[in-house]
Amino acid sequence: MYSLIDGKATAATIKAEIAERVEEIVKNGGRRPHLVAILVGHDGGSETYVKNKVLACEACGFKSTLIRYEDDITEEELLKKVDELNHDDSVDGFIVQLPLPKHIDEQRINEAIDWKKDVDGFTPVNVGRMSLGLPSFVSATPKGILELLLRYNIPTSGKKCVILGRSNIVGKPMAQLMMQKQWGDSTVVVCHSHSPQLKEETRSADIIIAAIGRPDFVTADMVKPGATVIDVGTTRVPDASRKNGFRLNGDVKFDEVAPLCGFITPVPGGVGPMTICMLMTNTLQAYEQFAK
Ligand code: GUN
Repeated sequence: MYSLIDGKATAATIKAEIAERVEEIVKNGGRRPHLVAILVGHDGGSETYVKNKVLACEACGFKSTLIRYEDDITEEELLKKVDELNHDDSVDGFIVQLPLPKHIDEQRINEAIDWKKDVDGFTPVNVGRMSLGLPSFVSATPKGILELLLRYNIPTSGKKCVILGRSNIVGKPMAQLMMQKQWGDSTVVVCHSHSPQLKEETRSADIIIAAIGRPDFVTADMVKPGATVIDVGTTRVPDASRKNGFRLNGDVKFDEVAPLCGFITPVPGGVGPMTICMLMTNTLQAYEQFAK
């Protein structure tokens, strides 16, 4: 019988731990950690993510500020705001919610963010520092997955970990972290859409991290009995029975894969809630390391 990794409950526990720490800070005369989110335009997914980030700040006792722009904002205007936030001592961390409108160069915005306030962990400095094993802000999804593996006492050292997907936000940093001695200490294989031996690789994996963005991609014949399966997929699939007209579908065919597993994350309620929670731990880290 498999064990379900409950990301929702774990995230709630961590947020309560953060809130406790914040109350201690405030009791000792400190100010509350402050996260700023910039949201450009009205993308449905981004609106939901940002709303949930603001709610998570409230749960943690943080101050939060939402800065909204219409999608005709220029790149220069956005860069000016980033520069302003970089120099604002009342702000511990900020995020620019992605995607941005097509006329704005996301990478140029990303590179303008001071790494000490980059609580998303997306800037080249943070990615580089993380890859070198230096103190850094680790991006939220891989950090959340590591936290789940740790809190569920799932051994990673010396294990074979297969990562499906090579995105900058999940696959690449996940591979780095699982490989590094002070984090996963695993043997890591990264597979993607052009990997010919993909099934052979996953079949011998102790841990599979699926972040390929293809619903139900991982099937029972790809999984070794007893493996841990982490599902990062959150594809919106039309579903007329739902109020909002869609459901979130993972990258793993849960019903047939779960009975084989030692541990598995559900979608929703697995990795998703941990992602926003790790943004909160990064904001607290920014406050504790760099607040003036
Ligand atoms: N868009 C989707 N996920 C994220 C995230 O983690 N951070 C930011 N800034 N934008 C996103």
